[in-house]
Amino acid sequence: MLLITGVTGFLGGAVLEKILTGGESLHLLLLARASDPEGGLERVRENMRKFNVPAEKLASLTVDNILIGDLSQPEDFLNDPRLEQVTHVINCAAVASFGNNPLIWKVNVEGTLALAHRMERVKTLQRFLHVGTAMSCTPEQNSLVAESAEFRENAEHLVEYTRSKSTIEQLMRQRCPDLPLLIARPSIVVGHTRHGCTPSSSIFWVFSMGLMLQKFMCSMEDRIDVVPVDYCADALLMLLGSNAHSGEVVHISAGEENSVRFGDIDMAMAQALEKAPVGDKYAQVSYETLVKMRRELKGIFGPCNERLMLKAMRLYGGFATLNVRFSNEKLISMGMPKPPRFTDYIARCVQTTQGLTIPEQMAVDFK
Ligand SMILES: NC(=O)c1ccc[n+]([C@@H]2O[C@H](COP(=O)([O-])OP(=O)(O)OC[C@H]3O[C@@H](n4cnc5c(N)ncnc54)[C@H](OP(=O)(O)O)[C@@H]3O)[C@@H](O)[C@H]2O)c1
Repeated sequence: MLLITGVTGFLGGAVLEKILTGGESLHLLLLARASDPEGGLERVRENMRKFNVPAEKLASLTVDNILIGDLSQPEDFLNDPRLEQVTHVINCAAVASFGNNPLIWKVNVEGTLALAHRMERVKTLQRFLHVGTAMSCTPEQNSLVAESAEFRENAEHLVEYTRSKSTIEQLMRQRCPDLPLLIARPSIVVGHTRHGCTPSSSIFWVFSMGLMLQKFMCSMEDRIDVVPVDYCADALLMLLGSNAHSGEVVHISAGEENSVRFGDIDMAMAQALEKAPVGDKYAQVSYETLVKMRRELKGIFGPCNERLMLKAMRLYGGFATLNVRFSNEKLISMGMPKPPRFTDYIARCVQTTQGLTIPEQMAVDFK
């Protein structure tokens, strides 16, 4: 039996889409937040509709597949007897927000550790695939980063979210020695190669925002390591069946070869919108310059919360200027094909966000 957490979200949803639309029939247990199994099932189905999963495939899911539970109160679901039959776990659930959500630590660290402890006691368990994030290693600017399990207690994190993700990896390693742990660290997951941003507009708006402003904190030469969510899901399913050592860390990333320049994103976006690229009109500026533009933001983006827009620019600008790529050699050597480039499927993302304002698109990242 495969337990998947986070199936009402972006990555977990993409994994479930692959399973439901693929040929293999797996015995599934899906953790979902809701007041009862019917409500949980409906939330899962609702998410699957964003991935365009046909109704007949959705009909294969029933309330028996649903495990109602909240990682901020794990004691309420960790006694469910079905957990004793689990052989594999894909743990995608987390508060994946750059905002100040007060549940970040409770869910991403405490609740996740309680789940790991519980699953460590399941005799049939063969693999606990935990989804981390490549950014949790606080990478150096302008670097190509290889996987490392090194934990730096005093590392300077740009946001609480990456600190929580780094801490839980370390705690699972230290405190769950018998857990068949494998850690997958995706880089930056944006859009879906076929469904564009319909499943989630997460992070896509950052690129549109910088190009609409014709100003941002990165240069057009800086590169960014982006993978589509369906590639990420394929990689997670491949890793689930792999015989990697316990405790191993694997990036799911574009790597040196398939990361793209912001200049390439400008060109591809312009082509999709059938307009001229921003090109030479673009200026790399400091955050302070963006703050001085605060009165202009409503004119550019329509009705918006100026403070939240500036906060978004500061946080995402901090990541964008890193110009960091995450090596994907390990994943490729394990048999995964190379990922598509962001610019290969950006037109689908542009099409599926047309008519949505930037403030509407960014709401998903500030829960
Ligand atoms: N997106 C990226 O670019 C990216 C990159 C690297 C790594 N990751 C990692 O990938 C994982 C999934 O991220 P995502 O982008 O798919 O995020 P997402 O779309 O926000 O989905 C998060 C999922 O976690 C669930 N969840 C949140 N709090 C919970 C709780 N208290 N109890 C149970 N479930 C809870 C959510 O359920 P509800 O629907 O009930 O809220 C949702 O299903 C995270 O671990 C994240 O760190 C993401």
